[in-house]
Formats: sequence, structure tokens, C-alpha cells
Amino acid sequence: MSIYGKYQDYLPLILKDMRQEITVMNEEYQKKHGQKLYEHFEGRVKSEKSMIEKCQRKGLPLIPESALIENRDSIGIRIVTNFVDDIYTVIRLLESKKDLHIVKKKDYIKNAKPNGYRSYHLIIDKKVNFEDIKGQKPGHYFIEIQLRTIAMDTWASLEHEMKYKHNIKNPEQISKELKRVADELASCDLSMQTIRQLIKEDES
Ligand code: GTP
Ligand code: MG
Repeated sequence: MSIYGKYQDYLPLILKDMRQEITVMNEEYQKKHGQKLYEHFEGRVKSEKSMIEKCQRKGLPLIPESALIENRDSIGIRIVTNFVDDIYTVIRLLESKKDLHIVKKKDYIKNAKPNGYRSYHLIIDKKVNFEDIKGQKPGHYFIEIQLRTIAMDTWASLEHEMKYKHNIKNPEQISKELKRVADELASCDLSMQTIRQLIKEDES
């Protein structure tokens, strides 16, 4: 039996619907403003193995409640934007949607993590046409949405890879370098934003 119980089969379908919504959001935005809302996005249902590991790490029993209620990232989406501003635009557009509401926001852009990590994290509660673990239909499922610029995403994937290399000889120096690069990239993101603004003003 899956740690997601009988709800296992619904998760990819809920992800599919959410993907569709985000795609439509981009198309409508593009039609109206003539530019992309985001560069791309990716989505995944957390694998059985990762969810079990996470529950064990947190000392949670290996039951669907832990996987779907205590942990809120069984469904995860990462939206990667060209500019920092676009992140806040996506959040505003998500906030205006009737079939979901944002239950948690973490702004690691305004408040970067000490290691330099930057992203905006949302947990949303989405209303879906499937039964949920509380027996409600329409049901409610949590989805984690991470929003980042391309620069932030580049940094996060490199840093993520480094985390799993345990035989590094000089971890302090590497962490320090990574932090420095994160700050430089953040500064580039701001410059890119300014350039876009200049182009816009030049056009009008
Ligand atoms: P969880 O219970 O693990 O979700 O803890 P949390 O709610 O404190 O998580 P947080 O919102 O800080 O981060 C969740 C996700 O963000 C992780 O699974 C990663 O995908 C990403 N993330 C957070 N911090 C880092 C980081 O320092 N480096 C990288 N590469 N990714 C991070
Ligand atoms: Mg999380």
C-alpha cells in the first residue's frame, strides 16, 4: 500500500489540472501584455521513497495523513521567471483565483537564507473534483509552489548538487563562495529588471 493511500492516483491528476491552469494563466497574460509571465515551470508528485524518508526524518508515522496533511509538498511546482517582478505578478494572479487559496508564504527573496538561497515559497490549498483524506468532495489538497528567477534557479540547482557531495575537502570555503555568487546573482537580477524598465520607457 502506498504512503499516499487511495489518494495516490489523484495526485498526478491534480498536478495535471494545476499545470493546465498555470499554462492558461501565461497565455492570457501574454495576450494582454505581449510578454511572458514566466520562462518555464516544472511539476512533480513527490516519490513514495522521498515522502517516506521525509516522514521518517520528521518522526511522523508512515500514513496518508502524514504524507498529505502534515507534509504539504506531495505535489510541487516550480515556476521560473525571467525577472524578479514577475514572481510577485504570478503571486497576485494566483491570489485572484477562486479555486485555491494561499495558506503560507515564505519570501526567501526579501529574506534570503544564510547560505544565499533565494526563492518565494507558497503553500496553496486547492479545491479539486476528487475526494480528499477528510472525506470531502470536492476535496482540498495542498500544493507547494516555488517561484524563482532563472538566476536563482541556476544557483539552487548547483547548491543542491553540492549538498550531496560529502567528500568535499574545504566545505567552508565552498559555502562562502556559493554565498558570494548568490549575492552577485541577486544583484544581476536587479540590473536585469532595471534594463527591462529602461526598454519599456524607451518604447513608450
Ligand atoms: P520542509 O518540511 O522540508 O518542506 O521544510 P520547510 O517547510 O522549512 O521548507 P522550505 O520552505 O524552507 O524549503 C522547501 C524546499 O525549498 C526544499 O525542498 C527545496 O526544494 C527548497 N530549498 C529550501 N532551502 C534550500 C536551499 O538552501 N538550497 C536549495 N537548493 N533548495 C532549497
Ligand atoms: Mg516544503
